[in-house]
Amino acid sequence: MFKKYKIAILPGDGIGPEVIKQVYKIIYIINKIFNLNIITKEYKIGGIAIDNIDNSLPLNTLLGCLNSNAILLGSVGGNKWNNLPLKNKPEIKSLLFLRKYFKLFNNLRPSKLYSGLEDLCPLKKEIYIKGLNILCVRELISGIYFGKPKGNNGYKKLEYSFDTEIYYKFEIEKIAHIAFKKALERKCKLTLVDKSNVLESSMLWKKTVSDISKLYPKVNFNHMYIDNITMQLIKNPSQFDVILCSNLFGDIISDECAMISGSIGMLPSASLNDNNFGIYEPAGGSAPDIAGKNISNPIAQILSFSMLLRYSFNLIKESNIIENSINNILKFGYKTKDLKLNSEKFINTSEMGSLISCFIIKEKLNEQDII
Ligand code: IPM
Ligand code: MN
Repeated sequence: MFKKYKIAILPGDGIGPEVIKQVYKIIYIINKIFNLNIITKEYKIGGIAIDNIDNSLPLNTLLGCLNSNAILLGSVGGNKWNNLPLKNKPEIKSLLFLRKYFKLFNNLRPSKLYSGLEDLCPLKKEIYIKGLNILCVRELISGIYFGKPKGNNGYKKLEYSFDTEIYYKFEIEKIAHIAFKKALERKCKLTLVDKSNVLESSMLWKKTVSDISKLYPKVNFNHMYIDNITMQLIKNPSQFDVILCSNLFGDIISDECAMISGSIGMLPSASLNDNNFGIYEPAGGSAPDIAGKNISNPIAQILSFSMLLRYSFNLIKESNIIENSINNILKFGYKTKDLKLNSEKFINTSEMGSLISCFIIKEKLNEQDII
């Protein structure tokens, strides 16, 4: 018997279901050509679960996640549920809850400029020509997102709200070691983002990460203030390799990295715990304005699945073949609507899913020829 790999699939809202549909094609092919036994089960999450079951994270979904080896998520949220009280919004009640519940402190968001997509980069050619390949390592279950106290109080002009940015040293140490190890596998450069000229919590980040840097003499370590790095990312992005951020700074910086690499529809993400269990999701959101039109880009979702194979299942060959196929498709000039310029032709969501499946088969056949 082959080893069974169980994935809980949570399509969610907006474009989630249509891009997840493309991943099923990839799973089918990967199972066939590598003789694997990846099995999937689908559960409801987000706004659609509110509409159906009155709960954005039904118990059945949580149990399904607990009973799986990894979670593949589409996206949650949309205008329809934006007016709910903060604690009932799908983003908070389902996504942030799952991140915290499974202790997914380690959020990896890689972004790079693909060959074939250079013209999408909003930066000048002399800037992007030097290359752009950044891994954003974001702490995901602490900081201002989860810090207590938070709330709203007072009345009339004296109404006030507050959130708490709090980090324990051990939380910073944990994510810092991950970032230094990632830098060692890449170009050995690590930049910490902070606001240590103003914030206590940032001073602790800077001190802690600087101390840890002594354990990694091969890594070229520096730090930048958040305001400076947002500017540097536009001015000279090729100076960066791995960027280490707190939860809030990572949310902001990872979107900026996605944009300078062309399209938010290309950005996958992995959120992992100590046991390499994780949630894999595109970082781009539910895009309700284009949902259901078969024009969304499924690549971020498929790359998220590829990260799942790599990090949770240690299926490296399988992950590589997906990534190579996507590289080749883009080099050939196939594009979804978000990737095309002006009058260029484009293929739809489901054509892109099928094309990636075909390229995977083609890559596999090429490999066998060489042997
Ligand atoms: C992200 C998203 C989430 C976040 C939202 C949907 C809660 O923007 O994954 O980047 O802020 O972490
Ligand atoms: Mn975000």
